[in-house]
Amino acid sequence: MSFTLDKDSDNYATDKLGWEIIKEYIPREKIIWSPFYCDGKQKEYFADMGLDIIHEDKDFFDYTPEYDIIIDNPPFSKWFDVCDRLKKLDKPFIVIAPIRAFTTKKFQNLFKEHLQLIIPNKRPTFTHLLNPKKGYTPPFGTWYFCYKMNLPKDLIFI
Ligand SMILES: C[S@@+](CC[C@H](N)C(=O)[O-])C[C@H]1O[C@@H](n2cnc3c(N)ncnc32)[C@H](O)[C@@H]1O
Repeated sequence: MSFTLDKDSDNYATDKLGWEIIKEYIPREKIIWSPFYCDGKQKEYFADMGLDIIHEDKDFFDYTPEYDIIIDNPPFSKWFDVCDRLKKLDKPFIVIAPIRAFTTKKFQNLFKEHLQLIIPNKRPTFTHLLNPKKGYTPPFGTWYFCYKMNLPKDLIFI
């Protein structure tokens, strides 16, 4: 858990349901990389859906495995650096982020050509690394920002 001391508010792990609701949009034959480790539970949640992901406690900015798609919930305090790196990699991704990420000029400029959105009708919940109480709902909505995913529609409401 090398990066969990960087910013405490980044340590909200996605609850299992947050991945299950997008299961049908995750290609099964691709290599999935989930670079943001936190407590490592994402690997278990994906395994329960029959998906074996690359999920290691390594620096996203300094290490790239062989992969096809990134699926993760990045640390929002590093959002712009994450965006730059995602653009450099220029491979498909699904990332969870607050809706306001969509309004930033930088995000739009980098990804608007191949961007699709998965919009949940209920706010996904998260669990903080140091707080055993499951199911925190942030006071803002979060969407799934999808890049080069070739989803059947540009706006998918679930
Ligand atoms: C919002 S949590 C999400 C964790 C998990 N992937 C999930 O979806 O439940 C983001 C995590 O990214 C980690 N992180 C921060 N900087 C990182 C970096 N440079 N490389 C890898 N992980 C980093 C933080 O420790 C934080 O716990």
